[in-house]
Amino acid sequence: MEQHFRNLALNLVRVTETAALAAGKFLGKGKKEEGDGAAVDAMRRGFSAIDIDGTVIIGEGEKDNAPMLYNGERVGSGKGLALDLAIDPVEGTNLLALGRPNAIAVVGASPAGTMHDPGPSFYMKKIVVPQEARNVVDIDAPVEDNLRHIARALGKNVDELVVFVLDKPRHKQLIEDIRKTGACIQMHTDGDVAGSLMAVSPRADVDVMMGTGGTPEGVLSACAIRALGGQMYARLDPQSDAERNAVLAHGADLSQVFTVETLVKSSDVFFAATGISGGTFLKGVKYHAKGAYSHSLVLNGKTRTIRFIESYHVNDEHRDLR
Ligand code: FBP
Repeated sequence: MEQHFRNLALNLVRVTETAALAAGKFLGKGKKEEGDGAAVDAMRRGFSAIDIDGTVIIGEGEKDNAPMLYNGERVGSGKGLALDLAIDPVEGTNLLALGRPNAIAVVGASPAGTMHDPGPSFYMKKIVVPQEARNVVDIDAPVEDNLRHIARALGKNVDELVVFVLDKPRHKQLIEDIRKTGACIQMHTDGDVAGSLMAVSPRADVDVMMGTGGTPEGVLSACAIRALGGQMYARLDPQSDAERNAVLAHGADLSQVFTVETLVKSSDVFFAATGISGGTFLKGVKYHAKGAYSHSLVLNGKTRTIRFIESYHVNDEHRDLR
């Protein structure tokens, strides 16, 4: 069993590599759907080659809309570990289509029954902080107070903090509130899984991520944060009446504050990401005549290991020349 768990990390990275290699062909081509479709296809094939009994908790959507990797779909050979899976073959479909940085292929995995199922919830308000600040923020506190406490925990002045915020109209007030404190805002059009990674990793110059992004992305990020350290406080934040009604009908509590421990209820968590476009952590896929390079990150929550993996993938027609 132990060995299965250890091998899982490498198996999952093969799956994200496969998706990134397929998606990368669409980088900057303005073909969001096609790029995503190619990655979904490739990731689905990647899963069928590994010995797990996986259930997609966070997937491409409901079965009626998503032919593959839909929520609830069973993937893997059916033998081996029973796992809950959070997948995003292209996190940042616009980033891919527009040739922008930080598009990644991502998978999170935890033991069956431990991953939060967002149901019909699309949006979540989040604040993600590194380990040193994990106990000093309150999702309901004014922005100014949170940033002051984070700065103190990190041994910085508030105007030295870098805050990752998605560039969305819904963040107008948040951006004004952050600006008043003097903190620096790093604005990204998309990609709050990458934003969460940046906030908790000492390799990036981001200190905190704030704002409302996808609920599925929140669960995916929680897999990574459980392994890397740090914390996310989150609350469902429906952006339309239809979403609010659906979430309430599903029995969700709009006042509940989630943490990474309630989003993923096990420390036996794995997270793998492969760069599609180049970004803060990972280089993008580089194609050559005979193959392609990919760069990935693999996290093991149990051992708290962080691995960066560079792979060279020989094209099928050149395999016999190796
Ligand atoms: P996709 O890969 O599904 O396009 O998501 C990109 C993303 O920016 C996420 O990182 C983020 O959580 C979400 O979209 C925000 O949603 P919206 O663009 O609707 O504000």
